Amino acid sequence: MKYDVIIIGAGVAGLYCAKHLPQNLKVLILCKEQPWECNTFYAQGGITIANGKDDIKLHIKDTINAGSNTNNINAVRILSENSIEILNELLQDNFNIDKDKDNKILLAKEGGHSISRIIHSNGDGTGRMLHTHLIKNLKHTLWKNANVIDLLIEDDKVYGVCVSTKNKLINIYANNVIIASGGVGGLFKYHTNAYTISSDIHGIILEHNLSLNDMEMLQFHPTVFINTTNARKQLISEAVRGDGGIVVDNDNNRFLFDYDKRGELAPRDIVSRAIFDYCNKYSQKAYINLSAFSKKAFQNRFPNIYRQLTSYGLDIPKDKIPIFPAFHYSMGGITCDLDTRVLGMKNLYAIGECANNGLHGANRLASNSLLEGLVFGKIAAKSIVSSNISTNQRHFPINNEVLQKEGDLKLKNVLRDIMWNKVGIARTKSGLNSALSGVEVMLLGNIGRLLRLRLLVAKKIITSALNQKNSIGAHYLIKE
Ligand code: SIN
Repeated sequence: MKYDVIIIGAGVAGLYCAKHLPQNLKVLILCKEQPWECNTFYAQGGITIANGKDDIKLHIKDTINAGSNTNNINAVRILSENSIEILNELLQDNFNIDKDKDNKILLAKEGGHSISRIIHSNGDGTGRMLHTHLIKNLKHTLWKNANVIDLLIEDDKVYGVCVSTKNKLINIYANNVIIASGGVGGLFKYHTNAYTISSDIHGIILEHNLSLNDMEMLQFHPTVFINTTNARKQLISEAVRGDGGIVVDNDNNRFLFDYDKRGELAPRDIVSRAIFDYCNKYSQKAYINLSAFSKKAFQNRFPNIYRQLTSYGLDIPKDKIPIFPAFHYSMGGITCDLDTRVLGMKNLYAIGECANNGLHGANRLASNSLLEGLVFGKIAAKSIVSSNISTNQRHFPINNEVLQKEGDLKLKNVLRDIMWNKVGIARTKSGLNSALSGVEVMLLGNIGRLLRLRLLVAKKIITSALNQKNSIGAHYLIKE
């Protein structure tokens, strides 16, 4: 079995890349379970688009401000300059973008944005709508329940992937492999990610001595609904705050202004830290107060959040929503260049959340991630078409390492606790060191491959955090 291109992951980056790969190429998209179990599907806020050419400069500035001035300026430029073309493509393809009664595109504002420039679809259903749209128009083959458990690499070339399907392990060969596998949400006790997002491919990258960059830069979304027991938390989009939702404590005190003059609309790292600090310091709880909305207005603008919260028994917008931060997004990832090529490899590419080209710096600006998937997904397709690489016929042995062993599930939960408590919103050197010891002990145990891959990534995150001696962006160190 040999393909021109294998894409690992069926989120926005993988699917938009596939859309731009010519039909005469033999392309295979692999997704771990069902295609909709990806972070794209759960994205609510929208897609940032520079509001005309004149806004590009300001969008770049906002992105870099949010990223604590550590972004790769060239990556940010590419993102913003391509955004208008992306909007035109979406419109041409009849993607349903929310408009007002005069047919003008509605624009939302979120934390860290100086102006309203975020397009959305079905109110808070942008990710779901975009994903459905891309799947509906997909012209290449997609396999579900195909879990990539290894990359077939020799020297500076990848020859394919080893896949665990429902009943067997197989090697599939390709001229090019694109990684679009998302982030690392499954490492944390509380997160907003799809349950398939478990960082396996990041672990495989480490096993092959390839590089992960900025791994200490992990974003915690400030506002998730906390009154559920599951690890995956219901996101309350930043757009709710952009449209007038306010963060308050038990006594309706709007405490975020004690931390930053932008209040609810400061960049995410600042808002998350403020909520974390305030609640811990003053034994308070945090809520979103929706008194700025009428029932009808909220229901129209945020139909999915409304439905979910109502199903949990809340009377919206009358009731305040109990919230707290949870892990949301990884700024760090597989080191690649601006053409999406993985560092040190000729025909391996990385796009979307799993990739790191320095775009987000130390903290991602709200709603830049769907745009990133679209822009760099398209660039990956162009890079492949122009490089025309063909790999020799090769046969690799199947990787037969046992995937899961008895006891792994328990240890996976121990790992999630460690990451949440010691490698979370606020870190200490001693906490990081104790997390490292815990992970190293687990790595010595009799464990399956999938847990080992997670542990390798956790170890990388912790050592990156220990090496980053100063607080910056999402990496916040408390002095002891
Ligand atoms: C949100 O709607 O708040 C999440 C959007 C994003 O992650 O940028």
